Amino acid sequence: MRVTFSWRLVKFLTVSAVLLLSAQVYVSRVTFSKHRPKPRPLPEEEYRVLSPQTYKYIFNQPAVCKGRSPFLVFMVPVAPFDTEAREAVRKTWGASGQDTLTLFYVGVPEGGQGSGIQDKLEEESRKHADIIQINFEDSYKNLTIKTMMMMNWLATHCPNAFYAMKVDADIFVNVFYLIRRLRSSPRQDYITGSLISDGKPRRESNSKWQVTEELYPEDSFPPYVSGAGYVFSADLAARISWASRFVRMIPLEDVYVGLCLHVLGVRPVYSRSLLTLRNLFEIQNLEYDRCIFAKLVLVNGFKPSKLLSAWEDFSQGHTSCYILLH
Ligand SMILES: *[C@@H]1O[C@H](CO)[C@@H](O)[C@H](O)[C@H]1NC(C)=O
Repeated sequence: MRVTFSWRLVKFLTVSAVLLLSAQVYVSRVTFSKHRPKPRPLPEEEYRVLSPQTYKYIFNQPAVCKGRSPFLVFMVPVAPFDTEAREAVRKTWGASGQDTLTLFYVGVPEGGQGSGIQDKLEEESRKHADIIQINFEDSYKNLTIKTMMMMNWLATHCPNAFYAMKVDADIFVNVFYLIRRLRSSPRQDYITGSLISDGKPRRESNSKWQVTEELYPEDSFPPYVSGAGYVFSADLAARISWASRFVRMIPLEDVYVGLCLHVLGVRPVYSRSLLTLRNLFEIQNLEYDRCIFAKLVLVNGFKPSKLLSAWEDFSQGHTSCYILLH
């Protein structure tokens, strides 16, 4: 008698628990989808501007990742004419190593600036086999196109890479420290840099960063990492590329990547030192100092000559600073 009763009780309790749980799941689903509406694909003609199908490679390096899995691929957007910046990167943090691979992405010289630039670029590309040229006009407003083509390039031609870094050419990258940190970082759905979590669109027509209400009606941006340099697990390249079918083009490439991450439900991570909470992707200009730089991932504002001279000191002396890192 007692046994039957308690069995009934157990049954009753189990059924109620299951019902309660399903109700909970249902409610949280409803609230979740309310906060993050299911994205709708863009109309064909709007997606076209960012679709990889729209563009062609003038030259490509389709075999650079054949038979190897680089730990870190530096993807550097740079203007076609800027040979000097590419040369400085090749001689410094971008020097080919076992673990890293550096590639430069260029469009077509803006406003038909003579064929001189194009001829020089072809020669440079033959010599170094590290330039990828795509047939859109290379301009500030077209940087979002360039970034999305870089994502697509990585997903297509270097799918075995572990990490990639989108980084401008005028940046000092402490590749030693970066690689050490990445060795213990997540391998999936991971993107890190200088996080901007309270970004708002600028509406002034005289701003370099203007985004009209028509283009982006909301009054804030989702979290994103500053475009000067950010690092991500290579799986995200294909996912960000996919997400762009749902996100209208805006001419701010870093915010645009943030919008794609929002569609994917991936939160970018702030890169800070555990001890001092210092931003490791120090974006502001900072006077070169060997042991301060040894504790940072990147510093911006390095013209080619400054990069070359800082690197000469850093690459030889940085190990003497490492004891101070702990
Ligand atoms: C962007 O590139 C496209 C394709 O080359 C070109 O038609 C357009 O004028 C460019 N836009 C800007 C603002 O440079």
